[in-house]
Amino acid sequence: MTSPAEPLVIFTPSGRRGRFPKETTVLDAARALGVDIDSVCGGRGICGRCQVEQSIGSFAKHGIESRPENLSPFDTVETEYRDQRGLAEGRRLSCTAHLRGDAVIDVPPESQVYRQVVRKGLDVRDFHIDPVVRLHYVEVTRPELASPTGDLIRLQEALEREWGLTDLEADLSVLVALQPALEKGSWAVTVAVHDRHTITGVWPGLHEKAYGVAIDVGSTTIAGHLADLADGSVLASAGVMNPQIRFGEDLMSRVSYAMMHPEGAVEMTAAVRKALNGLLATLAMQSGIKRDEILELAIVGNPIMHHLLLGIDPIPLGSAPFALATDRAVRLRAAELELKTHPGGRVYVLPCIAGHVGADTAGVILAEAPHESEVVELVVDVGTNAEIVLGNRHFLLAASSPTGPAFEGAQISSGQRAAPGAIERVRIDRETLEPRFRVIGSELWSDDPGFAEATAETGVTGICGSGIVEVIAELFLAGVITEDGIIDGTLSARSARVIAEGRTFSYLLHDASAAGRPRIVVTQNDVRAIQLAKAALYAGVRLLMDRAGIETVDEIRLAGAFGSQIDMFHAMVLGLIPDADLAHAKSAGNAAGTGALIALLSGAARREIEAVVRTVEKIETAVEPRFQQHFVEAMAFPHKTAAYPHLSAVTELPARRSGYRDGSNGSDSPDRGRRRRRATAAAAKEDR
Ligand code: FES
Repeated sequence: MTSPAEPLVIFTPSGRRGRFPKETTVLDAARALGVDIDSVCGGRGICGRCQVEQSIGSFAKHGIESRPENLSPFDTVETEYRDQRGLAEGRRLSCTAHLRGDAVIDVPPESQVYRQVVRKGLDVRDFHIDPVVRLHYVEVTRPELASPTGDLIRLQEALEREWGLTDLEADLSVLVALQPALEKGSWAVTVAVHDRHTITGVWPGLHEKAYGVAIDVGSTTIAGHLADLADGSVLASAGVMNPQIRFGEDLMSRVSYAMMHPEGAVEMTAAVRKALNGLLATLAMQSGIKRDEILELAIVGNPIMHHLLLGIDPIPLGSAPFALATDRAVRLRAAELELKTHPGGRVYVLPCIAGHVGADTAGVILAEAPHESEVVELVVDVGTNAEIVLGNRHFLLAASSPTGPAFEGAQISSGQRAAPGAIERVRIDRETLEPRFRVIGSELWSDDPGFAEATAETGVTGICGSGIVEVIAELFLAGVITEDGIIDGTLSARSARVIAEGRTFSYLLHDASAAGRPRIVVTQNDVRAIQLAKAALYAGVRLLMDRAGIETVDEIRLAGAFGSQIDMFHAMVLGLIPDADLAHAKSAGNAAGTGALIALLSGAARREIEAVVRTVEKIETAVEPRFQQHFVEAMAFPHKTAAYPHLSAVTELPARRSGYRDGSNGSDSPDRGRRRRRATAAAAKEDR
């Protein structure tokens, strides 16, 4: 029973309050009230995780005076901690400060276990850390001849006594390391406990750091973030090419490789695991930690990457019914994937959703949370495949559409990956048809003074994905490309940039050939490649809109390395995305990777995504009869039939012209055009 004579303590920002006997530690009072304060050392004044700040003054609304003397003065433990490790002005260790009177105590975010992670500058939701791996310092009783129990039992007893952890199991590697650690730490050790269930690591004395890595295994690149598991801070980010590219550029060619070669899948599994080990080494080096300090991994990837990484045969994913080996999250040891981390390292692989909709889409959902939205959101992660999610808090639909590598600069004559020297922004004068552009590595436009000097080192080397989208959209707006995607050859009379090349025309964007540097053109084939890619993406989106019975979407998010770089206006001009208010169309960064990071840091998020994916309705674009029709209609810029009222309100779209113009060298009759559309549609189907 508390009495009014006992000091009243109020914690902020939670607002929790209670009365406690004098000399109760602030940490004990917090625990009794369920206030979230971190601790690794169990209140021994050595870890410094439990820091709080007393708010001094008169708090009329609470009816209390919070005076400095209402907390005990610094004792030797706190003084020693301050002298050795530093304690900011006003900070106290809540495990050593005792209540002597009423107090208002502020718990700063960094002292909370379930702290909120705010990603400034990134348009992803904030989330709370819910650590899957926790570190606990314990003092283990020494063995005695009279009661000869094993060291593990006494460790488990200490963990139950000090941390309330029961029924813990232990890895073999922990048993191996336990006795040396106990000896070295004079019977005080820190253990890592995974999911309140398994002791996965042991270190002598106090060990305060646990790290994890979130990985997005893409078909082209593998990207990783190394994070501090306690506070969610990202210490390093890096990417490597997926070495499976040598077995096939796109997903289906990798499945074909597995079909044609008895050891093909095994080879691809070994290649991706090796790349992951390289990535872990790079991230550890960049962060200044050792690889064996990595205790946790969270991984996303499309179904084929997912299966190959896990060593599961991907062949069933290559044809209907596209059966996944599992559509549940996978929890395993890093060693089972031959990944070099701490011996007790664990891996969490987010759940796949369907045969064509993978764990990367689960990551996108976790990052963007369309399932919490009141309005209808369209989220597209654009890569070699486009992962598409449509919905709100009442429904979620997902599909994957085979856009191919054109958006990443492949299959484009002057295409290149996003690197210094690549054209990333383009504007074309509607009257003169003259271009101006910007390259990665310089803020200047090509018609700004000093551009040549600023880009002298890199040169102008090619066009990256976002540049391709812009140049084709600008050429369409300038009337150089028709809505059917034909470069209008009649304009060669007006501009020397429109040049005949065989039976079609090209647009000369930049010519440095006199200086022995690239001549950068947009060819008819380039336009075709982008038409195929954007039509596949739009058709996938449209199928989901059909299923939802909607004609418009409220919010659009484009994610992925390419998607996050595209200018929304130009994406809409091309018809890569449906018409919408441009103010509600935004980039979402690398949403799949962000989703992996959230899952790395939060057990609650893992439970959330596992529940949400069960509610997602999957659409297999490959077997949907209407895909073909949508695809053919979406070949036009921005679209053959769909209205683009929001876009028309902000720019003047070229008037529609009927059929194909003579500009295609006079060879493209409407009939021929129809035959080609059928052919390109069929080709796209084969690609899938
Ligand atoms: S709990 Fe570790 S210093 Fe207070």
